[in-house]
Amino acid sequence: MQEMEELNTKDYRRVLNLLFGFMKDAAGEHQMNNLLVLMANLGRDMVLADRCSLWLFDEDSQELWTKVAHGVNELRIPMDKGFVGYTLNSGKPLLIENAYQDNRFDPSSDEKTGYHTASVLTVPMFDSKGKVMGVFQAINKQGDSPVFSQSDLDCLNLTAVYSANTIESAKLTHELEETQREIIHILGDVSEYRSQETGDHIQRVAEISGKIAMYLGLPPEEVNQIRLAAPMHDLGKVCIPDAVLNKPGRLTDEEFIIMRSHAELGESMLRSSNRKLLRFAAVVAGSHHERYDGKGYPRGLKGDEIPLAGRICAVADVMDALASPRCYKEPWSEEKVKAEFIKQRNCQFEGRIVDVLIEHWDDIYKCYREMMENQDDSWIAREASIRA
Ligand code: C2E
Ligand code: SIN
Ligand code: SIN
Ligand code: FE
Ligand code: FE
Repeated sequence: MQEMEELNTKDYRRVLNLLFGFMKDAAGEHQMNNLLVLMANLGRDMVLADRCSLWLFDEDSQELWTKVAHGVNELRIPMDKGFVGYTLNSGKPLLIENAYQDNRFDPSSDEKTGYHTASVLTVPMFDSKGKVMGVFQAINKQGDSPVFSQSDLDCLNLTAVYSANTIESAKLTHELEETQREIIHILGDVSEYRSQETGDHIQRVAEISGKIAMYLGLPPEEVNQIRLAAPMHDLGKVCIPDAVLNKPGRLTDEEFIIMRSHAELGESMLRSSNRKLLRFAAVVAGSHHERYDGKGYPRGLKGDEIPLAGRICAVADVMDALASPRCYKEPWSEEKVKAEFIKQRNCQFEGRIVDVLIEHWDDIYKCYREMMENQDDSWIAREASIRA
């Protein structure tokens, strides 16, 4: 903050208030486009400009792009045009009193919009490796003076530092979330691949679980958590020998004991994770074969003792198991599946969940049918041919 010495106490307060306000707003915002608008607004308020935009460098297209608050589309400009291009390439700020007297000015956007650019301030935004990742551009100083000052430049520099940090951590968070999602699906696919279930069984169970959770009226974050955790419900099947897992026809009592261990196995594989979502998936894996009447496994939990996500996943899992072909059974008709759920109301399944399922049957079954029609088991077929 050494550079800020020129600011008087009143300005200093104003700048701090703007920064704190920005940090509060940015913390709750995960959409990159909305973050860019917050940052551009911060820049505008910091230097009292009529307009401010944050241009980000897109390495793939070698262009600069920006998002404007009320604009529909993003704007793009070549990386070597105008004041913004100059700052991007040189890494140096510009303090311009009259744009039209400077030969670096690119008047084409004024010509398009009918706006008149007079004073301009541009500052580079550096990433943590010291590379220019974007440019802040403030246009037309408001207030007593018609031109930007050295302390405006310092303020916009400060805005750029905070913005670069925010953008980099937003990108990192996005990357981590995507990675987690991908690993979850790979784990689910692994159990599915081993057990030769109909392609996309885990994905269908996940979507159906999500639908049921939604129709039960759970908050969106919980619906999403269930949808993300459900693909791992049968993870424990990776530990079940092929001879049992893929046996055509009925299992012997002994084989069934081995088979049933998949619930506890899946739970114990996931339970020690540091990730909340994976620990939640452990609960689902460990409880998806409990029965509402207490006759399920592994613990014989009854009623509300069974975690809600497990009660939901049980319904979705059996819906898919009955409607789809299995190595031990033919697929059932839609009517037969529906009748089985009604029959198992408050026996195998919680009555309230069955009621919601029946009330929204058409939509939920449509979800099953559409996923069945569009299933992508090409990679399973490909892997199978490699193994053969
Ligand atoms: P899965 O094929 O995904 O079946 C999931 C669950 O669907 C079963 O869990 C069971 O709760 C339900 N389900 C299957 N058939 C019926 C039915 O006719 N009526 C009702 N109400 N529910 C049904 P379960 O029984 O604990 O089986 C777990 C896994 O064990 C099955 O997963 C499957 O991989 C295997 N499995 C079960 N029975 C047999 C069998 O007879 N032969 C073979 N080879 N595997 C079996
Ligand atoms: C949850 O309710 O989110 C699961 C508990 C946990 O994983 O901490
Ligand atoms: C739990 O609540 O910790 C899980 C219960 C279960 O896996 O059955
Ligand atoms: Fe299972
Ligand atoms: Fe299953």
